[in-house]
Amino acid sequence: SIERTLVLIKPDGVARNLSGNIIARIEAKGYTLAELKKVNASRGLLEQHYEEHVGKPFYEPLVEFMLSGPVIVAIFEGHRVIEGFRSLAGTTDPSTAAPGTIRGDFGRDWGLKVQQNLVHGSDSVESAEREIGIWFA
Ligand code: CMP
Repeated sequence: SIERTLVLIKPDGVARNLSGNIIARIEAKGYTLAELKKVNASRGLLEQHYEEHVGKPFYEPLVEFMLSGPVIVAIFEGHRVIEGFRSLAGTTDPSTAAPGTIRGDFGRDWGLKVQQNLVHGSDSVESAEREIGIWFA
């Protein structure tokens, strides 16, 4: 069935001027861009978005990284877009994400405390609706 997913282009992707390329790849796979904006996220918004990671060792570096510059926030639509986008993004660690994926082609480990892995995508229908509610309140 038709799904919606929340995609973030993280501060590393924006700073490296990869936003257009990343959006083009998602559109080229056949998904439809429904909403798009550039945001300087607040700490409160990021704490809501990442609430499932509170207490993990990478949580505070992750929030600091996400505060380090603007992010692009998008909603994409299509049949099975949630798993389709996650496949296109590649696995979490960009050093070993498969070539051909967004993270595998553009990302790597920079030796920091957090994986700067260019993009975020919702992992389920429930989290997509929750995250869309946070970023497009
Ligand atoms: P994201 O899909 O936005 O969800 C949580 C983020 O935390 C993840 O992408 C990475 O940026 C980061 N992350 C997840 N696991 C680790 C880890 N083991 N070490 C550092 N950062 C991580």
